[in-house]
Amino acid sequence: MRPAIRPATGADLDALVALDKVCFGDSAWSASAWDDEFARLATDRVVLVADEGEVVGYVVLLVPPVVEDPVDLLRIAVSPAERRTGIGGQLMTAALQRCAGRTVLLEVAAGNEGAGALYRGYGFEEISRRRGYYAGGEEALIMQWQEKAL
Ligand SMILES: CC(C)(COP(=O)(O)OP(=O)(O)OC[C@H]1O[C@@H](n2cnc3c(N)ncnc32)[C@H](O)[C@@H]1OP(=O)(O)O)[C@@H](O)C(=O)NCCC(=O)NCCS
Repeated sequence: MRPAIRPATGADLDALVALDKVCFGDSAWSASAWDDEFARLATDRVVLVADEGEVVGYVVLLVPPVVEDPVDLLRIAVSPAERRTGIGGQLMTAALQRCAGRTVLLEVAAGNEGAGALYRGYGFEEISRRRGYYAGGEEALIMQWQEKAL
């Protein structure tokens, strides 16, 4: 069954906190950080979830109100048991459909080959690198997407 992609609601909060912990471990956002994300849904955040009866994936975008400002793709993740079934791609498609005419930026750990492959597949291109960006010293790739690439 392909999940439905829909905007998150407050009822998804606990599931998102739990899934984020599974996907990011020590780097997961705290419950209060997720509360802050939800508080910003009215202004500059978009949170989409993949819903199969339970939340199996999500994507978080920072969408500044000024259209000239780039969108930041802050997070995308899929439940480990559901990976490589197309859900990350479904989430990415839904996210980018909301970014018509805009530039989208993201950062990804240089060693995160799965995410890097997903992003390249959707037309993101590396525009710079930040050495020692992550705790532990791992390098970050800064990637950019523009609508023409979709
Ligand atoms: C990155 C992530 C969201 C991908 O989700 P997914 O549902 O597995 O992605 P899809 O099944 O839609 O994959 C789409 C394409 O991306 C690429 N891809 C995804 N995961 C990959 C992997 N582990 N290795 C190589 N390519 C991969 C492939 O090209 C894949 O197409 P294919 O399966 O037909 O070969 C998922 O691996 C994840 O949650 N990772 C942990 C969280 C994370 O690191 N997020 C990114 C930083 S915020």
